[in-house]
Amino acid sequence: MTHHDVIVIGAGVTGLTAAWRLAEAGRDVLVLEARDRVGGRLRTDLTDQAGEPALFEIGGQWVSPDQDALIALVDELGLAMYSRHRDGDSLYVGRDRVARRFAEELPVSAATNAAIVELTKKLDELAAAMDPARPWELDDARHLDSISLRTWLEEQCDDAEARDNVALYLGPAMLTKPAHAFSALQAVQMAASAGSFSNLLDADVILDRRVVGGLQSVPLELAQRLGDRVRLGQDVTHVEWDEDGVVVHVGDEQHAARRLVVAVPPTVVRRVRFTPELPAEHRIAREHQSFGLVIKVQAMYETPFWREAGLDGTAFGPYELVHEAYDNTPEGEPRGVIVGFVSDVNADAAGALGEDARRERVLDSLATYYGEQARHPIAYVESDWQHQELTGGAYGTSFDLGGLTRWGHVLRQPVGPIEFGSSDVAGHGFQHVDGAVRVGSEIAAGVLAAG
Ligand code: FDA
Repeated sequence: MTHHDVIVIGAGVTGLTAAWRLAEAGRDVLVLEARDRVGGRLRTDLTDQAGEPALFEIGGQWVSPDQDALIALVDELGLAMYSRHRDGDSLYVGRDRVARRFAEELPVSAATNAAIVELTKKLDELAAAMDPARPWELDDARHLDSISLRTWLEEQCDDAEARDNVALYLGPAMLTKPAHAFSALQAVQMAASAGSFSNLLDADVILDRRVVGGLQSVPLELAQRLGDRVRLGQDVTHVEWDEDGVVVHVGDEQHAARRLVVAVPPTVVRRVRFTPELPAEHRIAREHQSFGLVIKVQAMYETPFWREAGLDGTAFGPYELVHEAYDNTPEGEPRGVIVGFVSDVNADAAGALGEDARRERVLDSLATYYGEQARHPIAYVESDWQHQELTGGAYGTSFDLGGLTRWGHVLRQPVGPIEFGSSDVAGHGFQHVDGAVRVGSEIAAGVLAAG
C-alpha cells in the first residue's frame, strides 16, 4: 500500500488542476486515471485520412473571453492561442431548407427578430439576477425549476421560429438535451454561467479562441509537471473511508491518503463503490443528473472553399440535422475544416444509423448550408462520447425537471475526507473547461485551508 496526503481520481482538467495546485503547495499527491491518456473530455487527435496528418479536436476546443480562469492557466502553462476565422457573412436555414446569408440581423421576419430580442432581454435579466453557483437562490427558482424551457418559452412568446431559435442556443447547442427535458431554471443557469444569454448567442464571444496544438495541451502540460504522480490505466472501483482518511482500490493495489478528490462527472461517481456507502442524498442527487448527447462531426476539404464565397463558415438552423456549424480550420492549415453538431433527439436518430448512412445524412445537412462542395470531404471525423463508459455523453451533465432546486446543493458537498468536483458542478464556466479549472482550484484551496 502506498501513502499520500491527497489522492485525486480522474486526470481531466478538474483533477489535474487540483493536483497541481496541491503539489505546488508541497502536498504529496497521487492522481489515478482510468484511461490510458490524460484529458478526459479533452482529446486532440492527429489523423492522416487526408494524406498529410491533420489535427482534430475530438472534445472541447473553444475558449471565450470571460473564461479568465482557463485563460490564466493557459498563460501560466506557456501555451498560445489564436482566433477563430470570422471574416464574412454567416448562414441561416429555416424550415424551408434554404440557406440565407446575413451579417448582423438574422434573415427572419421583423416580428420574429423582435420576439428574439424580447426573449433575449428576459433571459439576460434572469441570468444577471442569478449566482450560477447557487441557482436555487434565484427568486422564483422553484417555479422556474418546475417547468421546462419549452413551456417557459411558450408562456413568453407566440412566435414559433423565435422560440425555436432561442431554444437552440440553450438546448441543442449547450445542454444538448431537447428543450422539454430540462427546466427553465437550468437554462438560466447555463446562461448565467457564461455571463449572459447574449454571450451564448454570440459565436464571436463563446467560440472566440483556440489553443495552438489543441486544448488537450492544457491537461498534457499539467500532467507533465506532475510527472510520475499521475498514473494511467488505474480504474478506481472501490473506496473505503472514515473521518481520518481513505483507502483507494485499483485492481489488487491499494493507496491510502488523508484526503480524496473525486474529479469525475457526477454520473460517473456511481461506478465507484464506497464503504461505508455515501449518504443517501448523494446517490439520489446524482440519479437526477444525466449527460446530454451530441455528435461532433468534422469534415476536411482541399480548401476552405466557403471563404472564397465571402462566408465566415458560421451556419445554423433549428430544423437541420446539423443545427450549427463553423469554420474549424486550425491556424496555418491550408486545407479547410468544418465542424458541425448533431444534438439531442437528432443524435438519437443519427446514432441509430450505420456509419455510412449517418455520414451521408450529415453531409447532406452541410450541403444545405454550404452547397454541393460540402458533400465531398477528403477526411471525415466523428466524436461519439456516449459510447465511452468513463464519460457517457457530451458536453456535460445537467438536472432533470426540479432536480436543481431539490438536489443542486448536494453535488459539491464533501463527505468526510472526500471532495467531489468536475466542470458539471461549476457555477461560472459550468460544463466548460473554465469551470473545470475553477472547481479544481477551489477544491485545492479548500484542502489546503483545512491543513
Ligand atoms: P472529465 O470528464 O474531462 O475528466 C474526468 C476524468 O476522470 C476522465 O479522464 C475519466 O477517464 C476519469 N475517470 C472517471 N472515472 C474514473 C475512475 N473510477 N477511476 C479513475 N479515473 C476515472 N468545453 C469548453 O470549454 N469549450 C468547448 O469548446 C467544449 N466543447 C466540447 C465538445 C465536446 C465534444 C465535449 C465532450 C466537451 C466539450 N466541452 C467544451 C466540455 C469540456 O471538455 C469539459 O467540461 C471538461 O473537459 C471537463 O473536465 P473534467 O475534468 O471536469 O471532467
